[in-house]
Amino acid sequence: MRATAALLMLLLWGSVALGRARRGERRGKARGGTRKGTGKRSATECKEYTEAGQTYLDCQDRHLTAVPTGWRGQVDHLILARNKIQTLPDNAFVHFKGLKSLDVQQNQLAGIEARAFAGLNQLTTLLLQHNHLRLLSEEALLPMPRLAYLRLYDNPWDCQCQLDSLVRTLQVPSKRNLGNYAKCAEPPALRGRRLKKVRPELLCPELEGNVLQEPREHSLDRTPIKSHLDVTSICHTYAIPTPFLDCQNRGLKSVPADIPSYAVKVDLSKNNIGHLKNKAFLGSKEMRLLNLSSNGLQHIDTDAFAGLLYLRELDLSNNSLRHFQYGVLEDLYFVRRLALGGNPWACDYNIHYLVYWLKLHPAAEHSGLVCRSPAEFAGWTVHNYVKTYNGECPKDGPMTRDATLDAGTRNPNALEPGDQDPGALELNVKIVEDEKILLPRPLSGPKKYEVIRLT
Ligand SMILES: *[C@@H]1O[C@H](CO)[C@@H](O)[C@H](O)[C@H]1NC(C)=O
Ligand SMILES: *[C@@H]1O[C@H](CO)[C@@H](O)[C@H](O)[C@H]1NC(C)=O
Repeated sequence: MRATAALLMLLLWGSVALGRARRGERRGKARGGTRKGTGKRSATECKEYTEAGQTYLDCQDRHLTAVPTGWRGQVDHLILARNKIQTLPDNAFVHFKGLKSLDVQQNQLAGIEARAFAGLNQLTTLLLQHNHLRLLSEEALLPMPRLAYLRLYDNPWDCQCQLDSLVRTLQVPSKRNLGNYAKCAEPPALRGRRLKKVRPELLCPELEGNVLQEPREHSLDRTPIKSHLDVTSICHTYAIPTPFLDCQNRGLKSVPADIPSYAVKVDLSKNNIGHLKNKAFLGSKEMRLLNLSSNGLQHIDTDAFAGLLYLRELDLSNNSLRHFQYGVLEDLYFVRRLALGGNPWACDYNIHYLVYWLKLHPAAEHSGLVCRSPAEFAGWTVHNYVKTYNGECPKDGPMTRDATLDAGTRNPNALEPGDQDPGALELNVKIVEDEKILLPRPLSGPKKYEVIRLT
């Protein structure tokens, strides 16, 4: 009897406190019941409200063990914080296709399947902090090309091979607000290191170097696999005025493996390097100028330019490039000149990545970006093509200044770009900025993002 009374008191107090919190938050009109029930919950038990034209479905603190089902309407922001969800299976959000933000913080998430976020191609904000996640594949993020804020901290990340691709993705320089403050819990040697900062090579040492190309040669890890021709015997090297490796017109079919690490200028023009493979320049940390002109180059692997941290000038002119694969340019932090002329640039959706990168790197001068196909755009500059493309896009509705998502927030400060205060566990994400950035028009500002699609 006494126990029952105590329980009742507790429940009452809980709902009063909750109500008080809600009232304090200046939320819009609520509808939908809050019936108590057991077992699998349906979305009708959540609170729906509209604020500044955005629809919120608030399912906080509902003891949910799965993403609620049975919701028909359009939702912009789904709040699932402080429930008991342990896994997100494939297609967990098929009923919430237009979501812009998703808050699953403070659950018991231990697993997220690779297609869990399928269909969330409008999502800009994903909150996964305070869970039990050890692994998350980069693949899981692929359906969300607009993702700009990702919170992963306070999860016991296991920094080994399976996390390699995610760590590399988080470290792409343009992704400033993905995964800040998340730290490795395992292995002991990496405990406490930030996913944003840990050297990816440490996660999966056996993946590095030449092992990828020569899986049978494990015992030879230390000795670089030499092409039968030594680069210094087939190319000219000059030390003055700057260390220069001249391999122009040497009939090369691939990038020599033994480019001296001190080479500052490397001329590989007029060869037959049709395919630029991953990590071709990993040892070339000093390189400032790379000339790959006139190679019949058709394909560049995503990590081909890894390691070219200080590259300033890249000549890719007179090749057979049609577009850059998503991510190819992300290792080039300081490029100032990009020669792109004389390539059959294809003006379809794949070209958007390049345009997007150029907008984010206004200091990078470029030349020669002219469409060759399809016929209707032949001869157009790629920028004009993109303008036309965006002109045809349906316009997103205008956003009001204070359309903020507050997931049970007490901290009124909006997020700043860059590192966040890790103590600010309660999040207050400004949607406004994302929306402004993502609007397809106008195109003139230098800092605007374009829609990009992962191929
Ligand atoms: C690259 O090589 C080509 C042909 O060898 C040359 O015409 C061009 O000027 C070089 N580019 C740069 C940036 O040096
Ligand atoms: C363009 O490259 C091809 C080989 O890929 C070469 O034969 C041709 O001379 C180059 N043209 C110029 C203008 O450099």
